[in-house]
Amino acid sequence: MKKILVSGIKPTGELHLGNYFGAIKQFVDLQNGGEFAPFVFLADYHALNSIQNKDEMKKLSFDLICAYLASGLDSEKVTLYRQSTLPEHTELTWIFNTLVTMPWLMRAHAFKDAEAKDKEINIGTFDYPVLMAADILMYDADIVPVGQDQKQHVEMAREIARKFNQTFGEAFKEPKEMVKEEVAVVPGIDGQKMSKSYKNVIPLFGSEEEIKKAIMGIVTDSKNPEDSKNPEEVIVYQIYKLMATEGERLAMEKGLKEGGMGYGDAKKELLRKTLEYFAPMKEKYDALQKNPEKVYSILKEGEKRAKALAESKMKKVKELVGFE
Ligand code: TRP
Repeated sequence: MKKILVSGIKPTGELHLGNYFGAIKQFVDLQNGGEFAPFVFLADYHALNSIQNKDEMKKLSFDLICAYLASGLDSEKVTLYRQSTLPEHTELTWIFNTLVTMPWLMRAHAFKDAEAKDKEINIGTFDYPVLMAADILMYDADIVPVGQDQKQHVEMAREIARKFNQTFGEAFKEPKEMVKEEVAVVPGIDGQKMSKSYKNVIPLFGSEEEIKKAIMGIVTDSKNPEDSKNPEEVIVYQIYKLMATEGERLAMEKGLKEGGMGYGDAKKELLRKTLEYFAPMKEKYDALQKNPEKVYSILKEGEKRAKALAESKMKKVKELVGFE
């Protein structure tokens, strides 16, 4: 039997090369590895803690699903659905809420960080780890691939599973986290890590004009074309490397080291390569954008598969707590 993998994705804004090479690509590789039965869902209830605008929620959610599908997520191999279409997630959250205490939830890093920044914290944010535990435990996940910052949430899910099992009887499996190594730290156009919050991104499915504008804005120093440059210090090259074939990479490396390749030429080559590399995905993305019925029918299919499992888990839970 394949191991069950559960992963939630939160819409955060326009996707960029950093999201693709830092996360999406590995995810697609994992799916294709065949070792896991992945459940992937849009964590829209989690997103509601911060996105409180109808149009924004709709657009960001739809775009994210299109981006994952365009990047190679295969709805035959992956059960893909929206958290908000399965009320079982919030139902189970409520039951778990009765098993955890406030001081225990106050230990969550996300809560502590928000508090340290003197932010006003809504109950949804406070309860974030409990909803996440429900997402994971519902499907008997073996493995949860997460970033380092989410490791604690998976530990908390394990504790909740244990607490439920001790209190009411065996219903949940203890999941393990798979902490994703940052395979590729993608530098942004200013050299810091590429991130929406630094406004230094190259958009993944932007128009040619948008991508060009970002690439032409990549920071360089004042060396002339004929000067020798250290490729490790050239941001254009660092980004190019992620997409270039070995031959292309060596050619740019040589041109920079030996002189002869100026930053303008390097940027032009990076632009050409970026457009070429993402062309097939962009084509799929644009087609999906024009065909929301198809996207929603894929989600519907995933929802049906997830629902069967969620219903049977909730039946068991309700029996154990004495509702049935
Ligand atoms: N908290 C995760 C993030 O910010 C998203 C998420 C919600 C999730 N529920 C999950 C991830 C369940 C894995 C499993 O990235």
